[in-house]
Amino acid sequence: MACSRWQDADSQRALLPKQPWLFKAHRTVNRPVKVRANYEDIVNTASLITPILSWRPPRRSLNFQPENIQVWRAWLDQPPSHVEKLLETLSPDERERAERFYFQKDRDHYIVGRGTLRIILGRYLNIEPDALRFAYSAYGKPSLTREFGGDFVRFNLSHSYGLALFAVSRGCEVGIDLELIKSDFATMAIAEKFFSPREVSVLQRLSPHYRTEAFFNCWTRKEAYVKARGEGLSLALDKFDVSLAPGDPPALLYAEGDPRAARIWALKELTLDRGYVGALAVRLQGEENPALICH
Ligand SMILES: CC(C)(COP(=O)(O)OP(=O)(O)OC[C@H]1O[C@@H](n2cnc3c(N)ncnc32)[C@H](O)[C@@H]1OP(=O)(O)O)[C@@H](O)C(=O)NCCC(=O)NCCS
Repeated sequence: MACSRWQDADSQRALLPKQPWLFKAHRTVNRPVKVRANYEDIVNTASLITPILSWRPPRRSLNFQPENIQVWRAWLDQPPSHVEKLLETLSPDERERAERFYFQKDRDHYIVGRGTLRIILGRYLNIEPDALRFAYSAYGKPSLTREFGGDFVRFNLSHSYGLALFAVSRGCEVGIDLELIKSDFATMAIAEKFFSPREVSVLQRLSPHYRTEAFFNCWTRKEAYVKARGEGLSLALDKFDVSLAPGDPPALLYAEGDPRAARIWALKELTLDRGYVGALAVRLQGEENPALICH
């Protein structure tokens, strides 16, 4: 089952005081994974339609619930005053990176993405956003430093054309990917370049009507898995298979050299409106560590 029914900016406002909905998603083997989707944009979506004074941060404090993965979304086109406010939460190296973007829009999106990430994590950890410190894997995956909960907090983010998604978990490694569906990108030539032979063959056998959807299912699921692993492009994209046909449950089907992979990785579909598609990859915890099991 997908994490579905994200709300529009205005209707979200009405949802703010309410409890977030809880979705139960299933992977191919029997253990379910719950995905908690919070329909509060961290940078208040109301700001898209009303002035700065209506800026309303999320709840002061957020709770980790070990059995849940929490997914947040934020629109990255924010008024300059919001961008500047979020810039103040960034570390010197993040500010330097922001300055290196050629286009102002990319700079602002990066600032809003990172600033929003800091706000979200700060609320879980009860720490001011600007106090958090990130470390980076050899391939660039950010994590929190140990002093800020890096041993147990896992998160990942993705952005595409003005929208960002954030996945936060206690203990389960996560990867998230978001794409704007563009049918002219979903070609067999691109598929042959990035997908595995099995995935290409599934795509070829589908009626053209379903190919774009299948293409982006494949792309986001593969990317979410790659991002959860944190190994970037060192992980060969043609050496693992994901499901992609519309209607097939999201799943990692096979990973070369890792017979357990299909059992320990769960893939989730994040259903989004406005032409976006998203996927989440979660590394499930073993039975021996029940407090951290994602289910
Ligand atoms: C970062 C990477 C993993 C994803 O890049 P992307 O899809 O362009 O970007 P996304 O918006 O989904 O994710 C970017 C965010 O992921 C995080 N990230 C960076 N490196 C990462 C890594 N190695 N692993 C996981 N997350 C990473 C960062 O938070 C980054 O955002 P920020 O720099 O603004 O904080 C990219 O380096 C990569 O290797 N992509 C594979 C590209 C590809 O060929 N895909 C084919 C899919 S079939």
